[in-house]
Amino acid sequence: MAKYIIKGGIRLDGKTEAESAKNAVLPLLAASVLTDGEVVIRNCPPILDVESMIRILRELGVKVRFEGKDLIVNSSSMHGYTIPYNLSKEMRSSVFMLGALISRFKIAEASYPGGCDIGLRPIDLHLHGLEQMGVKVDEAGGEIVCRAEKLKGGNIYFDFPSVGATENIILAAATAEGRTIIHNAAKEPEVEDLQNFLNSMGARVAGAGTSVITVDGVKKLHGTEYKPLFDRIEAGTYLVAAAATGGSVEISNCNAEKISALLHKLCENTCKITIKNDIIYLRSGSGRKSFNIETLPYPGFPTDMQAQMVALASVSEGISVIRENIFETRFKHVRELNRMGANIVVKDRVAIVNGVKELHGAKVAAHDLRGGAALMIAGLNARGTTVIEDVKHVERGYYKPEEKFRSLGADFVRV
Ligand code: EPZ
Repeated sequence: MAKYIIKGGIRLDGKTEAESAKNAVLPLLAASVLTDGEVVIRNCPPILDVESMIRILRELGVKVRFEGKDLIVNSSSMHGYTIPYNLSKEMRSSVFMLGALISRFKIAEASYPGGCDIGLRPIDLHLHGLEQMGVKVDEAGGEIVCRAEKLKGGNIYFDFPSVGATENIILAAATAEGRTIIHNAAKEPEVEDLQNFLNSMGARVAGAGTSVITVDGVKKLHGTEYKPLFDRIEAGTYLVAAAATGGSVEISNCNAEKISALLHKLCENTCKITIKNDIIYLRSGSGRKSFNIETLPYPGFPTDMQAQMVALASVSEGISVIRENIFETRFKHVRELNRMGANIVVKDRVAIVNGVKELHGAKVAAHDLRGGAALMIAGLNARGTTVIEDVKHVERGYYKPEEKFRSLGADFVRV
């Protein structure tokens, strides 16, 4: 099992570039099966979640290959509509293959994606939305079978603005008969990226980025070439790492307005942030100050940056109160941070962080993707050596972090 060994206490300083967003590439890969034409997804990071999605597509007969960092997808010989158990267990976000497969085959089969370390993660909103479009959903023994004589547009109301459910319904509606209107849709930038991608294939999607999305079904979609949105969470992670080490970083391939909630919090922490075109430039202030966070659907503070900010708060002067409103159990990183000398108490969905001057190195383990990112940040701050186990969680969503952090001056190796 690979691990990271970090000798902390070094101020990060340098330049890096944000990858394309994991949470945009995954739905785009699902959308690519809606056409028999060739689809090119540019600048696609070969992270573990992308590789899992590629395995699912290949299992269904889709031809997928990397040319450099460009991913070429061809579904003309696609034959399957059953997402294999071992693959849907491996990655929750395989669930939005349902919408794409029903759109193409009028049938889709999948295993109930397991919960994971951040919460139960039910898919009731996905299935209820599909039923509104004429899909018959049968669930038995952890298996889901979705069938539709024909997909028809409808009015769909989400109790919660679920990102995955919004994407699933857009995928099912793209070639359905008539108009689908999604109310209380997720407004995340990755939903907007899916809209732009589908429209470049000839779909008619409008309103993404707002809470009402309208899809007018079309008969056929054609191939496309597309460069996905930047990974706002990866970029945010490097910004927080620079702040936690009292250093500075310049990140290109960004769009600052998509992470404004994070940038405001980093300014509260006393960072100096300047934006120039697609570059975000962060310089640490004289001393880190505490802050409070409520994680919320976009454009509120992103839950995917909560763990990283708990790590920053643990070495910021004063008391920070961080409430996780999106997932039930997304504080597995706290126990590990406290092993490094952090002073954090968790009560239900709130972490109370009493900042300390600096952390000390320790042997810790990643339990989930963003919790692992928090441990990288803590290790970069800590005096001494930190060993992070189970880094496969981190590599689901971060492309070669050991190389990127080394390019910023860190003493950081993967063994
Ligand atoms: C997406 O997950 C992201 N993953 C997550 O990123 C992100 O944390 C999340 O959106 C929220 O922004 C991808 O895009 C691949 P949700 P998703 O449906 O779609 C509840 C990361 O670290 N819910 O918006 O699964 C759910 O339990 C990952 O990159 C239902 O109750 O998130 C959760 O509490 C982690 N029923 C809340 O809604 C449903 O049918 C938000 O879930 C669906 C969701």
